[in-house]
Amino acid sequence: MTGLFISFEGTEGGGKSTQIQLLAKRLKELGRTVRLLREPGGTPIGEEIRHTLKHSEANHAMTAEAELLLMNASRAQLVREVIRPALAAGEIVLCDRFYDSTTAYQGYGRQLDLDSVRRVIDFAVGPTRPHLTLLLQVPVAVSEERRRIRNAQAGAGTAAEPQRDRMEEADRAFFERVEAGFQIIAAAEPQRVHAVDATRSVTEVSDNIWELVARLVTR
Ligand code: TMP
Repeated sequence: MTGLFISFEGTEGGGKSTQIQLLAKRLKELGRTVRLLREPGGTPIGEEIRHTLKHSEANHAMTAEAELLLMNASRAQLVREVIRPALAAGEIVLCDRFYDSTTAYQGYGRQLDLDSVRRVIDFAVGPTRPHLTLLLQVPVAVSEERRRIRNAQAGAGTAAEPQRDRMEEADRAFFERVEAGFQIIAAAEPQRVHAVDATRSVTEVSDNIWELVARLVTR
């Protein structure tokens, strides 16, 4: 059985983690082995890099260039340590973000040179590319509101990652550029990237995702 690599993308608050869990459940019911991963992170080295990028006390001064390279250092490790072996073993890899996040956040959001961003990504991933990318879209205002609620819960100590998150300290214009970047990516690669309207109910979104994935796994 051949492996399948699916990435989930989109701005914060689109319900990616919920949808990944629901898709994993459906795939396991078909008897498939499913590997759930997140970026940055997914390996011991990647999780340390994630901490540096998001939560470390020393990360205030991080440049956009360092951010780009750290995201891709985590990715280079994940691809070789986990994704390639998992695909070779016929597993289904579901990744919460992959290189489209770099194009959207570091390319369009931080406004780094897009060609340089592409070259760094190519070096990090080589030929390992998602077969399908699901772009969960919510308007920037909805994403902002969901982030606000999550941060309020984090303040109350109920969230999984209760620390300050440097990536969320950017202004609204940054997140608008990120969202526009994702739309450009989806338009450029319609075969691979499918936009999913994530303002609908959890069940509707999950059924929509299943329509897109089922044809790849029940071949
Ligand atoms: P999340 O796991 O809560 O989505 O946090 C990851 C953060 O890192 C999120 O703000 C998006 C950002 N990010 C990038 O800026 N570039 C990348 O390449 C990746 C994978 C994530």
